[in-house]
Amino acid sequence: MIKIMRNKAELREIEINYMAEEISHQLYFIDRLRTMQVLINLLSNAIKFSKPGAQIYIEAIEVPSKSTQTHKQVEINVVDQGIGMTEEHMKPLFKPYYKVQTSESREMNPNGAGLGLKISKDITKMLNGDITYSSEMGVGTCFTFSLNLQCATQEMAD
Ligand SMILES: Nc1ncnc2c1ncn2[C@@H]1O[C@H](COP(=O)(O)OP(=O)(O)OP(=O)(O)O)[C@@H](O)[C@H]1O
Ligand SMILES: [Mg+2]
Repeated sequence: MIKIMRNKAELREIEINYMAEEISHQLYFIDRLRTMQVLINLLSNAIKFSKPGAQIYIEAIEVPSKSTQTHKQVEINVVDQGIGMTEEHMKPLFKPYYKVQTSESREMNPNGAGLGLKISKDITKMLNGDITYSSEMGVGTCFTFSLNLQCATQEMAD
């Protein structure tokens, strides 16, 4: 998935970095298709709203305080150095068809439907997870996709 998105980003001279150093467990049961759908939505936004030369970071971390032996709380941060948003812009972020109406945002995203985040939020709810965000205008945006995942073993995967 990251490879496909990297090709897309490279066309715009944006670099995608992936880090998962703090993940203790290697195999999980996941709803692959739905998880991918959310990540592709978040990553395509990060690419769309970044300028050439910018970096994007995808970092996966495990939250020990919310994890048990069998289930790990995994948070995936998609961090960009793009145009960012104000508090006011972010309030309706998960409403269908919502798009920020600044000239810069409109220019960078003429074809967006404003549905990606709404759909991502719905999928996340279905997966018993969550999406949160923080952003600063002109600095960048971070979306955090969190999931509680059941650990799997190699025998289960085979
Ligand atoms: N990483 C980001 N940086 C800046 N603005 C963002 C970012 N992600 C989302 N937004 C703002 O939130 C709006 C809604 O995002 P959403 O993904 O739902 O729709 P879209 O990308 O415009 O269209 P679609 O995903 O349906 O193709 C965007 O149009 C944009 O204004
Ligand atoms: Mg989108």
